[in-house]
Amino acid sequence: MQVDILSLFPRYFEGPFSESILARAREKGLVTIRQTDIRDFAQDKHNKVDDRPYGGGPGMVLMAEPVAQAIEKVKTPDTKVVYLSPQGKTLSASHCEELARCPHLVLLCGHYEGIDQRLIDTMVDEEISIGDYVLTSGCSPAVVLLDAVMRFVPGVLGHERAAQEDSFQNGILDCPHYTRPETWRGLSVPEVLQKGNHDHINKWRHTQSMLRTQRRRPALLSRYQQELESPRQMSPSEFGLHEITLPVSKLNKSKRFYRDVLGFVLVEETDRNLILELGSLRLRLQEGTLPQEELRSRFTLGPFTEEAIQKILDRMRRAHRGQETWEANSIDKSIELLDPDAYQWTLLELK
Ligand SMILES: C[S@@+](CC[C@H](N)C(=O)[O-])C[C@H]1O[C@@H](n2cnc3c(N)ncnc32)[C@H](O)[C@@H]1O
Repeated sequence: MQVDILSLFPRYFEGPFSESILARAREKGLVTIRQTDIRDFAQDKHNKVDDRPYGGGPGMVLMAEPVAQAIEKVKTPDTKVVYLSPQGKTLSASHCEELARCPHLVLLCGHYEGIDQRLIDTMVDEEISIGDYVLTSGCSPAVVLLDAVMRFVPGVLGHERAAQEDSFQNGILDCPHYTRPETWRGLSVPEVLQKGNHDHINKWRHTQSMLRTQRRRPALLSRYQQELESPRQMSPSEFGLHEITLPVSKLNKSKRFYRDVLGFVLVEETDRNLILELGSLRLRLQEGTLPQEELRSRFTLGPFTEEAIQKILDRMRRAHRGQETWEANSIDKSIELLDPDAYQWTLLELK
């Protein structure tokens, strides 16, 4: 993913993006973050980018032209321009997951009283707020947004499903977590977690999540319960998941391809169904009649880093030794793979 941040204080971002998970995501090439100083596009020799508001009133307003030129410098046909603004739609987990699928985000940080409305009307795709309060600039909202979005980019978190299990992902708050020592200052870790029965642990965690949500966010819980009770179940897309259902000939063969080669995580398995997930893509495989070969859909996955693609190809080579005959063609910056039923997957490589 490519991110361009347009602001008046590019140095503001040096710290947050050089630490921890975001720093590692940059090192792994999962995200490239570039800074643009809007002042570089000032139209006069004094580097002025703001002026007094028409109609009077306090404060200054960022002028449209320098901001427009900054956007034009970085914009590509795939770009989504987001203006961080207290007047935007409040950021949510599902929205972050959606944004994580954008190949190129431009985060526009306002300053002073904001930006000339004509620029917003003509060049901004989306306005996003990080909450009902006003900050001095869009710099910290840009950090918050990027941090929350990056957690949904495949490969950023150590565990593929980690982001899916956090608060809000399935409509309720996360359960409490414990680590060693078993007893700390006289307080013990709940017994069920120590016993290792995964069914019991899952039930306990779910109950704890419900209790917490009831106590802390009752409105969230009633929405969750309504969704469960209503005949209209929440669709995966409302959870921020994009779902594909494929009929396949042999579940086991497909499982080896999607889980062991492409790196999908197995979420559910029954006699005739498999559900696997990779990032925000949910794949439902059903044993059944296949469409004619020429009518089989083509899909795109990624973008992956060069390293991740290499790993997939290595796994494919190893699988070949185990008699599977899958095909891989390298085309320009992408790899094309055929699954065991000849569904074509194009893996995009991160540029
Ligand atoms: C002082 S604010 C301007 C507030 C504006 N006059 C208003 O009341 O809507 C300056 C800049 O900070 C950013 N900002 C402030 N609060 C924000 C929030 N809650 N979410 C996202 N961006 C925010 C925006 O980029 C905004 O242009």
